[in-house]
Amino acid sequence: MTKVIKNGTVVTADLTYKADVLIEDGKIVEIGPNLSGDEELDATGCYVMPGGVDPHTHLEMPFMGTYSSDDFDSGTRAALAGGTTMVVDFALPSPGQGLLDAIQMWDNKSTRANCDYSFHMAITWWSEQVFNEMETVVRDKGINTFKHFMAYKGALMVNDDEMYVSFKRCAELGATPLVHAENGDVVAELQRKLMEEGNNGPEAHAYSRPPEVEGEATNRAIMIADMAGVPLYVVHTSCEESHEAIRRARTQGKRVYGEPLIQHLTLDESEYFDKDWDHAARRVMSPPFRNKKHQDSLWAGLQSGSLSVVATDHCAFTTDQKRYGVGDFTKIPNGTGGLEDRMPMLWTHGVETGRLTPNEFVAVTSTNIAKILNCYPKKGAILVGADADIVVWDPAREKTISANNQQSAIDYNVFEGQQVKGLPRFTLTRGKVAVHDGEIRAEEGHGEFVMRAPNTPVNKALSTWKELTAPRRVERTGIPASGV
Ligand code: URP
Ligand code: ZN
Ligand code: ZN
Ligand code: ZN
Repeated sequence: MTKVIKNGTVVTADLTYKADVLIEDGKIVEIGPNLSGDEELDATGCYVMPGGVDPHTHLEMPFMGTYSSDDFDSGTRAALAGGTTMVVDFALPSPGQGLLDAIQMWDNKSTRANCDYSFHMAITWWSEQVFNEMETVVRDKGINTFKHFMAYKGALMVNDDEMYVSFKRCAELGATPLVHAENGDVVAELQRKLMEEGNNGPEAHAYSRPPEVEGEATNRAIMIADMAGVPLYVVHTSCEESHEAIRRARTQGKRVYGEPLIQHLTLDESEYFDKDWDHAARRVMSPPFRNKKHQDSLWAGLQSGSLSVVATDHCAFTTDQKRYGVGDFTKIPNGTGGLEDRMPMLWTHGVETGRLTPNEFVAVTSTNIAKILNCYPKKGAILVGADADIVVWDPAREKTISANNQQSAIDYNVFEGQQVKGLPRFTLTRGKVAVHDGEIRAEEGHGEFVMRAPNTPVNKALSTWKELTAPRRVERTGIPASGV
């Protein structure tokens, strides 16, 4: 049984051309003019693009005394509804728990996925067991990325010494570290002071996490990665201070990637000053939303290439869960949704405004991250042999975003009321049509785990360079007698 996508324009990260795409057994088998298949999907007026890859989700994640409310079923359904065909979630050991144990837990949850997925491994504590298990995680479990939280003191945070040994271990294994870059010590102290002064509402969340704490941590992580000889991926880059650090590192030849979120690109800090407590608390996430200066910086980073990927950090909590923090903003579960809205919002605010080309849109929503994570061209490509993870994108289709018709399980949407132009006509996950002209036909359990091998070309190049430039003892001919 074959499928053919007809009459569309193929748009990839580097090419735009008219062609039909033939699919068989979940893969792209032919691209060219006048193809035919058993089933036809009409892409007249549409762009045929690689499905989105969202490298940053937290589905059913235990966090701040509760669990995020979208699981691998509702979360991946939301992803497909918005044109995203692969998510990468974080396997998160609680401090003291083994890495392989955590993977087992994530394996159990992810059997419900509607689209393909992979995991990053989080390093939330350090021991010989963690050091040893990292090798099994990379060699046997198909995970080549390790996340480090520099914030959430007393919970997930790791210190510089732990980060340095973990980054060095990543270098040995050909893996890449990720960081949540905020100075957790300073945040904790600012939180304490704000609470002491009676500043306990959601706006204090933003006051407690200014851009400076993010910029400092980003600089520190870049230095530690450089010393350890590994590439570095900075998640949810939200401000100029952090972007500036990444930009500078890249111009120095360092292999550093920055990931702005669609929320930070399109929503600003005024949300926290809304008179409605629920409105403000629903938007509490770390780092917080920033002002226009920072948003402009993030857009410029995508345009110039100093920032590489747009993600969501989808970590959705209901209004009831957010209310755990009434009277104490530090207890509001941190996180917002976005999986269904990332691609339409980025198209509307990026491509429709002329900030991004359609090819750049594909690069930052799919191809760049597939390369960074080492699953390209299985994902992130329209090529013969690639998985048929495809979005047929209708640039004329419009809707108003509303919680009333979203796939996410929560009771609100941070983009509520936003008019978007540019939506999927069809979304295909390994050849299966999951979205058909607005109708969701996703299938729970269809998603498969994507193994990602270590030693990407960038890891290899960097370790070659580090080896070549490593300190070397000078063998001397004459050594003077030591003084007394
Ligand atoms: O507020 C956020 N970002 N919640 C999810 C956990 C994290 O820090 O990524
Ligand atoms: Zn984070
Ligand atoms: Zn509101
Ligand atoms: Zn996150």
